[in-house]
Amino acid sequence: MNKIIVANMKMSMTLKEIGYYIKVLNDKLDTDNDVIIAPSFIFLPYFKSDKYLTCAQDVSEYESGPYTGEVSALQLKSINVKYTIVGHSERRNIFHENSAIIHNKIKHCLDNDISPIVCIGEDKKERISMTTEQFLRRDILELLQDFPKEQLENVIIAYEPKWAIGTGITPTPKEIDETIFFIKDIVESAFKVDVKVLYGGSINKENISDFKKLKNVDGFLIGGSSTDIDEFLEIIEQI
Ligand code: 13P
Repeated sequence: MNKIIVANMKMSMTLKEIGYYIKVLNDKLDTDNDVIIAPSFIFLPYFKSDKYLTCAQDVSEYESGPYTGEVSALQLKSINVKYTIVGHSERRNIFHENSAIIHNKIKHCLDNDISPIVCIGEDKKERISMTTEQFLRRDILELLQDFPKEQLENVIIAYEPKWAIGTGITPTPKEIDETIFFIKDIVESAFKVDVKVLYGGSINKENISDFKKLKNVDGFLIGGSSTDIDEFLEIIEQI
């Protein structure tokens, strides 16, 4: 089965560096998997190829209007962006995004035919107190409530435990597969939707072989390792 592989490039690279990245990507990418690239907003129009689709790293919670510095879902749609990451833990922690804000972002994406990649994941404290499942359930129900089923079918969830992002530490393959099964089960029972779920957090070329075969994992959201084009291509090749 094809996997979805998303490169969350975060705030990395300058124009010159992105030019090199795109050249190598366009020349060498050769896979049946679905590759999705999420560079900074300013670089989105440079990624043009029929080998991959593009994704924004964020979107405004507002539909349109005088919001300096914001980018709307309609604007993203107008440059052919098909996906947007929403609710990434860096947005939640550093920019104080709460569930209401993330819910609005999901709504604007869905209303503009953009698939939101909705990030959820527990903190160390939930993990230690064994409340991960309660925490994930609450987050999923809050973020996905009030949307019609036909719209929810376009949502992708990314399970990214906060303690695994950029740390080099991951859950075990069994833990990831079980947690993703749990997430799918909640979405199925609450909304009757068969949602796709990605794993993200410290994926690299050394550990991808441990995770690529997991039954419930539909793909990967890759941060640091996606910004090195050689490593990213090697990960894709292994998958
Ligand atoms: P790393 O792959 O750098 O741990 O980041 C994961 C992530 O935040 C992807 O959204």
